Amino acid sequence: MGCAGEVAWKNWRMGVRITMADTLFIGFLILLLVRVSSALPLCTDSRAPLTSKASLSFCPYNGTICCNTKHDSDLQKQFESMNVSDPSCASLLKQILCAKCDQFSAELFDIKSGARPIPVLCNSTVLMNSSQSNEAAQNYCSKLWRTCENISVWNSPFAPSLQGPRATVNSTPSKITDFWQSEKDFCNAFGGASSDGHVCFEGGQISLNMTQAEPPPQGLCVEKIGNGSYLNMVAHPDGSNRVFVSSQDGKIWLATVPKVRSGSTLELDVSSPFLDISDILHFDAQFGLMGLAFHPNFVNNGRFFVSFNCDKTQWSGCVGRCSCNSDVNCDPTKLGSDGGSAPCQYHSVIVEYTANGTSTTPSQATTANPSEMRRIFTMGLPYTSHHGGQILFGPEDGYLYFMMGDGGNRGDPFNFAQNKMSLLGKIMRLDVDKMPSATEIDDLRLWGNYSIPKDNPFSQDNKSQPEIWALGLRNPWRCSFDLERPSYFVCADVGQEFYEEVDLITKGGNYGWRVYEGYGLFTPIWSPGGNTSTRSINAIFPVMGYNHSAVNIHEGSASIIGGYFYRSTSDPCMNGRYLYADLYAGALWAGLENPTDSGNFNSALIPFNCASDSPIPCTYVPASTLPALNYIFSFGEDNSKDLYLLAANGVYRVVAPSRCNYTCSKEVVTPVGSLAPSPSPSSAHLLFVPLKKLCLLLLVSPLLLW
Ligand SMILES: *[C@@H]1O[C@H](CO)[C@@H](O)[C@H](O)[C@H]1NC(C)=O
Ligand SMILES: *[C@@H]1O[C@H](CO)[C@@H](O)[C@H](O)[C@H]1NC(C)=O
Ligand SMILES: *[C@@H]1O[C@H](CO)[C@@H](O)[C@H](O)[C@H]1NC(C)=O
Ligand SMILES: *[C@@H]1O[C@H](CO)[C@@H](O)[C@H](O)[C@H]1NC(C)=O
Ligand SMILES: *[C@@H]1O[C@H](CO)[C@@H](O)[C@H](O)[C@H]1NC(C)=O
Ligand SMILES: *[C@@H]1O[C@H](CO)[C@@H](O)[C@H](O)[C@H]1NC(C)=O
Ligand SMILES: *[C@@H]1O[C@H](CO)[C@@H](O)[C@H](O)[C@H]1NC(C)=O
Ligand SMILES: *[C@@H]1O[C@H](CO)[C@@H](O)[C@H](O)[C@H]1NC(C)=O
Ligand SMILES: *[C@@H]1O[C@H](CO)[C@@H](O)[C@H](O)[C@H]1NC(C)=O
Ligand SMILES: *[C@@H]1O[C@H](CO)[C@@H](O)[C@H](O)[C@H]1NC(C)=O
Ligand SMILES: *[C@@H]1O[C@H](CO)[C@@H](O)[C@H](O)[C@H]1NC(C)=O
Ligand SMILES: *[C@@H]1O[C@H](CO)[C@@H](O)[C@H](O)[C@H]1NC(C)=O
Repeated sequence: MGCAGEVAWKNWRMGVRITMADTLFIGFLILLLVRVSSALPLCTDSRAPLTSKASLSFCPYNGTICCNTKHDSDLQKQFESMNVSDPSCASLLKQILCAKCDQFSAELFDIKSGARPIPVLCNSTVLMNSSQSNEAAQNYCSKLWRTCENISVWNSPFAPSLQGPRATVNSTPSKITDFWQSEKDFCNAFGGASSDGHVCFEGGQISLNMTQAEPPPQGLCVEKIGNGSYLNMVAHPDGSNRVFVSSQDGKIWLATVPKVRSGSTLELDVSSPFLDISDILHFDAQFGLMGLAFHPNFVNNGRFFVSFNCDKTQWSGCVGRCSCNSDVNCDPTKLGSDGGSAPCQYHSVIVEYTANGTSTTPSQATTANPSEMRRIFTMGLPYTSHHGGQILFGPEDGYLYFMMGDGGNRGDPFNFAQNKMSLLGKIMRLDVDKMPSATEIDDLRLWGNYSIPKDNPFSQDNKSQPEIWALGLRNPWRCSFDLERPSYFVCADVGQEFYEEVDLITKGGNYGWRVYEGYGLFTPIWSPGGNTSTRSINAIFPVMGYNHSAVNIHEGSASIIGGYFYRSTSDPCMNGRYLYADLYAGALWAGLENPTDSGNFNSALIPFNCASDSPIPCTYVPASTLPALNYIFSFGEDNSKDLYLLAANGVYRVVAPSRCNYTCSKEVVTPVGSLAPSPSPSSAHLLFVPLKKLCLLLLVSPLLLW
């Protein structure tokens, strides 16, 4: 660890009072979400496709696919059971069965609308309407009809009774014409076009076209709107221009976001927090109030959830099972220490509170009662670091996702992250709407007051903890769902020695730690908990990230901070790019997916600057043109989709690039006052501060060393 090392999470405080902004924000426009396709590569079981080294023997699929050898031989049996006499039709039917192996099979079989028996068959109406009659112009759906209409097959997948989840098959052979009167009827039922942003099946492996490579944005422009230092910013669920912000030492405030270009600052009253739980939480380097999430129905039920750490010697509510236990072959007396705590002295907890205004309308509540709480989850921690703590409600399923690190110590010595009987190094998914009975909690050995969603990947596997959604993480620090594509659930995962990574999280996905760190194999220095072999897992590799060496930081001193897919209109050149940062280096990256929906990203460091008309003027790193944000802890997003950097020096909002003299051809620049737009951006923006300089900066910072 470099000089900043563990100091990173040390106490900083609200160094400066925040004054009330003078302008109220009126007429706030809530942009409606535009729902577009979400064709993230996914299999019909909602899991991520895997990379297979060997080709399949029956289905002609290789590379990133949804079938293993077992699926392949099952498909072969299914095909043989159809006993298709005509070779041309047989060849098409084989293609259709094998579409299950495509990396986009979830989309092809439209599992969102309840899984079709066969994939969406391309039936481009454009080609139909053209007068071309040659074979090549024929669309796949009509080709299938014309080839197979009179052919008898057993267990036909085209029977209307089979639409929907697989039904029992009838025991006589049938022709398509037994079920469908005409090609038109048939293609109305099974056809679809690729033009509406969805994929359709044309007989082979789906490949997406590369889109025109867009030039990277020239830079990211921010304005400073607050002096406070926060770990969380969550948009108010009522859709208003308000956000909740929380400090690591245990306070949550309700704040009003100033209108862009109003010159105003984040409006909040430091002396009257929305909730103050600093008396029951434990605050230290990596401990404190880590996560905050509002129930999807908050506006009606006022329920919200806080994830924090406690010390069992300090708070009587800090009780629960220890994560080091016999289920995971961990003996608490053999844990050793990473900094002087007794095993499971500190816990990770989620507690539910209720907001209730005088009017009993939760949206109008300005405080919540700290004594009105229900403990949702409690787990004792083995060491003092790597316990994530972010909580998020899934935008589509309404379940609570809970990010948990490997529990700490170098190289996950007990191999918790790969152990499915441990909740360390996992992303969990909990149902907080169905409360279990005390006996259910005991029978299922749950860690609190929640139940298990039926479709959790390991809910039926008694050798796994049913809470697990994904595994193999080291310390997921900041995850988000793309506002426009809810299936894009992205987490940054802090690395150990070499590589900081960004993962696309899918159901049951194993993200590799500590078999792998990033793309490379990891060698543990101490492994009392044993090892997991590379062959026994199907690791999913990062989609973005950076080497420690690539950002000129000393080994061990980088720490990734996950952000969001940028969806605001404020910076049109940033649209659709995933933004992330490094805690120490003052470096920002933007990742672009190409082709769209492929899960294939390219990311690059991006220069940033502070608008010269920033409501609170920015200070600069000495002898550089880089704004002095100090540590970047997290990102936030408000109800108008604007993005914020939550840094030790304050709250920074991403604004129009022209305000930093960055050129963005998509921006409509409205000149302000008499300022003529300047054509040339300053050339010498540093992309990151070398660590030595940063250390110097930190040493003189009054915010950190009190
Ligand atoms: C933020 O801090 C600066 C420098 O101390 C001060 O001038 C300014 O008034 C503060 N602004 C707010 C909104 O607290
Ligand atoms: C898949 O197979 C084809 C044809 O056999 C080959 O050209 C291609 O390189 C293979 N792709 C991968 C990713 O193995
Ligand atoms: C398959 O079909 C052929 C004729 O089309 C028939 O002779 C054979 O018995 C069938 N096999 C099965 C297993 O039904
Ligand atoms: C299928 O049978 C119908 C009716 O006998 C006939 O009109 C049609 O041409 C046949 N199709 C093929 C492809 O043989
Ligand atoms: C193609 O598929 C769509 C969607 O199912 C359907 O509405 C349309 O009628 C089909 N076109 C033809 C020519 O069958
Ligand atoms: C991909 O590009 C080819 C050639 O430009 C075009 O014919 C095809 O329709 C494109 N496919 C998709 C899915 O956009
Ligand atoms: C909400 O407020 C009403 C009256 O203001 C009170 O009777 C009720 O107990 C409160 N409920 C909760 C959950 O705080
Ligand atoms: C469940 O909630 C009740 C009521 O708050 C609490 O007494 C109990 O300890 C909780 N269970 C766990 C395991 O936290
Ligand atoms: C776990 O499940 C297996 C197979 O379903 C069963 O044989 C075994 O008894 C179960 N073990 C426990 C501890 O319930
Ligand atoms: C785990 O792997 C490391 C590195 O290869 C090795 O040194 C160690 O002995 C292994 N530990 C066990 C328990 O197998
Ligand atoms: C940097 O990371 C890439 C993967 O993104 C890897 O291939 C390369 O070897 C790494 N370079 C160094 C110097 O670690
Ligand atoms: C942008 O250019 C204007 C005019 O040259 C200058 O006043 C302003 O300071 C520049 N802003 C930044 C952030 O460099």
